[in-house]
Amino acid sequence: MEKSITPARTADAATHLPDGASSGVTSARHQGKHDALTGLSDRCAIRARIDSALQRSRSNKSSTALLLIDINGFKLVNHTHGQEIGDLLLMTVASRLQGQIRQGESAGRLGDNEFVVLCEQVGQAATMSLLAERINDILRQPVVIAGLTLSVTASVGIVVDSDGTQTANDMLRHADAAVQAVKARGDGGWQFFSAHIHEPAQQRMKIASGLSMALARNEFSPHFQAIVVADSGRIVGAELLLRWNPPEGPVSPTVFIPIAEMTGAIIEIGAWVFRQACLAEANWRRRWGEQAPYVSVNVSTRQLNDETLVDMFAAALRETGADPTRLLLEITETALMADIDKNLNVLHRLADLGLRLAIDDFGTGYSSLAQLTRMPVNVLKVDKAFVDNIDKDPESRAVIRAVLSMGRALGLKLVAEGVENSDQQAELCAHGCDFIQGYHFHRPLPEAAFVDTVEREIRDGALGAAIPLHFIIYVSTTPAPMTRPAFDALLKQARSFNRTVGITGCLIYQDCCFMQMLEGKKEVVEALMEKVKLDPRHCDVRTVVEGPARRRAFVDWSMNFLDLTPRPDEPDFTQWQGRAISLTELAEDARTCYKYMTAYMGRS
Ligand SMILES: Cc1cc2nc3c(=O)[nH]c(=O)nc-3n(C[C@H](O)[C@H](O)[C@H](O)COP(=O)(O)O)c2cc1C
Repeated sequence: MEKSITPARTADAATHLPDGASSGVTSARHQGKHDALTGLSDRCAIRARIDSALQRSRSNKSSTALLLIDINGFKLVNHTHGQEIGDLLLMTVASRLQGQIRQGESAGRLGDNEFVVLCEQVGQAATMSLLAERINDILRQPVVIAGLTLSVTASVGIVVDSDGTQTANDMLRHADAAVQAVKARGDGGWQFFSAHIHEPAQQRMKIASGLSMALARNEFSPHFQAIVVADSGRIVGAELLLRWNPPEGPVSPTVFIPIAEMTGAIIEIGAWVFRQACLAEANWRRRWGEQAPYVSVNVSTRQLNDETLVDMFAAALRETGADPTRLLLEITETALMADIDKNLNVLHRLADLGLRLAIDDFGTGYSSLAQLTRMPVNVLKVDKAFVDNIDKDPESRAVIRAVLSMGRALGLKLVAEGVENSDQQAELCAHGCDFIQGYHFHRPLPEAAFVDTVEREIRDGALGAAIPLHFIIYVSTTPAPMTRPAFDALLKQARSFNRTVGITGCLIYQDCCFMQMLEGKKEVVEALMEKVKLDPRHCDVRTVVEGPARRRAFVDWSMNFLDLTPRPDEPDFTQWQGRAISLTELAEDARTCYKYMTAYMGRS
């Protein structure tokens, strides 16, 4: 970098200015009413200008508009590239804004990364959105400063006064509320101020103040949602889900948790929640011994950053007598990745207490395999978004398959969240998922109701919704050798049908014999078998083995096919070959047939 840039450095600054931003904007004659860096009107001058514009608008019955332009990500530029680059960027923004100003409009800088454009005698309010668009477009153009190419966007809040009833302060405040609304949307762009814009902010304030008293008023309660073994439905754990019931009615955790995070109330609430998890673990273990479900509990980003977290958890464990190895801390992948090195240190300290750790919403963040191996994690919780379409969409299946095999390779247990039907369950089992959680089995319940459910299961040995997966292997013979086009026709139809009804399997052909394995829902497999038996392309259809399957052997919803007719590239077997065993003979040995068929898993 060249010399530092200070307000009195116009000559130097001019040599750095990209975009032809004029050093004249910072000339001494502006000082006082003008922002020293950019030369635009400063906050005080802007306020005065707005007031006089409003006065004029009252007398000539015209509208006045104010656009507040907040440069997104400016702090990051300052932080990453230093203040000198940041200052140059602001000067460019100022010069670009000035380039957009027309007769009756003026620009100013409120401070930091906030600029305004004041427009008098505004005709249609909608034209202000066009100006906002124009400003955003012009600011988006890359800026080259000292060899760096930077690009910024802006959040623009627009307020229009049509009768001169507002004050300059009102307009600035309202424009700021509109900027906050744009930021909350998270997509940049612009937003007009309206009276309703305050509602979310007021609502947030109300929730924040309610939250600060909620613990003392005993308004929180823990609910528990069962986590079950994927194929049998047996309850093995429960996730503690916090519920808040203030006198005005329940507030959803998706609403109050982010606010508690923002205000910091999450620290105290999180400590209470962890204690409830410890109490549940200790109580349940006293009641059911080793059969007791483990307890899963969420830990937020803000808690991870809290210096006292580990000591506080250690104290809760000591005081309640909870077994740390039966407590699972769920931390979202995004929270972990926010500051991986710092978080790793905390994770190791938590693991040293004996606590087990899970990465929650896995698949939504950006952890790499390398990072995963560095973390003392025991469980991956696969996000509901991937589970939702697993029974319909090949891409979701591919993601689940990849996550499951990665988890397995790292020796982690896998829990799928948001499982809502038996098809999803069957698919997850087919891919080797260990545990699942979702409405298909159990909804979150108050503790007493959850305890009753576990009691019932232990007493009745009740298994949850066990998956109705069925498989069959049969053999058959063809009246004459099959040709390649004949196979192709058969497979095209079979694969397309199987894909739609959720049947998987494998078909083998050798010397005028077929052996086929089909797996899927019992009634669907049986219905297909009825058709297959009547198919004139083969005869003597004989069942080798059939029954319930715990897992799908073939995971692609289609039909593997292998033609075992000798091929020219095979070794020469003639002097070694004894009696050839046909597939119909092999059918005498059901177990070998099963092993033989399933050995072709994943190959075609
Ligand atoms: C050896 C063999 C295996 C077959 N496998 C399947 C299969 O997996 N899925 C399928 O839909 N049809 C399969 N078929 C074809 C069915 O017998 C039947 O022709 C097909 O289901 C169409 O029946 P439809 O026209 O009555 O609906 C197979 C046929 C043979 C000869």
